[in-house]
Amino acid sequence: MIETGDFEIDNRLVTAEQRDEDIAAEGSLRPTTLTEYIGQDKVKENLAIYIEAAKRREGALDHVLLYGPPGLGKTTLSAIIAREMGVNLRVTTGPAIERPGDLAAILTNLSPGDVLFIDEIHRLSRAVEEILYPALEDHAIDIIVGKGPAARSLRVDLPEFTLVGATTRAGQLSAPLRDRFGIVQRLELYTPEQLADIIRRSAQILDIPCTFDGAMELAKRSRGTPRIANRFLKRVRDFADVLGNGEITEDIARKSLDRLEVDHLGLDSNDRRMLEMIIKGYSGGPVGLETLASALGEEAVTLEDVCEPFLMQLGFLSRTPRGRCATALAYKHLGYPVPQAVTVDNGQLILPGTEEQN
Ligand code: ADE
Repeated sequence: MIETGDFEIDNRLVTAEQRDEDIAAEGSLRPTTLTEYIGQDKVKENLAIYIEAAKRREGALDHVLLYGPPGLGKTTLSAIIAREMGVNLRVTTGPAIERPGDLAAILTNLSPGDVLFIDEIHRLSRAVEEILYPALEDHAIDIIVGKGPAARSLRVDLPEFTLVGATTRAGQLSAPLRDRFGIVQRLELYTPEQLADIIRRSAQILDIPCTFDGAMELAKRSRGTPRIANRFLKRVRDFADVLGNGEITEDIARKSLDRLEVDHLGLDSNDRRMLEMIIKGYSGGPVGLETLASALGEEAVTLEDVCEPFLMQLGFLSRTPRGRCATALAYKHLGYPVPQAVTVDNGQLILPGTEEQN
């Protein structure tokens, strides 16, 4: 990890954003069926039923929206859906579809039943979204032919298809687009036990010796995210080869991740900087997201998408209408004395300024 004192999010080992090294590596590690897929049990159970029902009706699956933090398997699930339905998968992203014509070209090349996966679907432009609505609802698009007074609208029929949209920011989807998804599923952060299972499966595929405790140690520090867990597996393998006998044990895992400055809960130096900024710079909060981002020299969306879901899951950060607050647990984790509590609610310590949790 490059330490510059700035918020080095792009070089973070624990960022859940996809990086070039992940694209090649994830391919071989990706489960290809719902049975192989570990975790997200509710999503899997629901999808299995919807897929079975669609197959019995010999129709296309209803449109699916998958949302949740990055690195949890949205792309993998879309490929599994296509495979379980026995159809082709077309993959694209919101920002790649620049003009309505780009989307029209993709849609008119689909075969009946195909799955079209659009990652980062919240980044589609309004003009492109307008083309999508009739495509999703009536399996047709309206193309404007000609210009000026001679322009005419031509309706082109499309085959029945399934759109799988993925987003880290469901709140940014326009209401008309969101309403056109019949199936909406939220992906949750994984438990350490599920991540340990994923790591052991990946270790087997990559032929990396890894003990149960070694996998568990990596899992506990992977901030609920398979993409990070698999990245750790490959980095720690290097330490195991050089410092040990090639096997990832609990001791090797702990030493390697300590060296990489990932602490025992999975926080890296940037997470700690964020919490420290709230605690030391803003007396524990509340502090507005934009203020915090500029104090750290970071984009607000990165803090919101990458750091916050995990810090909130750990109970280190609370969001209040007036801004972000560090919790008593965050003070304790970073070794700061916990300020005087104003209330104790249900046994939980409520710090000044954090009362209005939502
Ligand atoms: N690799 C990455 N994510 C996975 C998952 N959810 N199940 C199995 N292997 C995975």
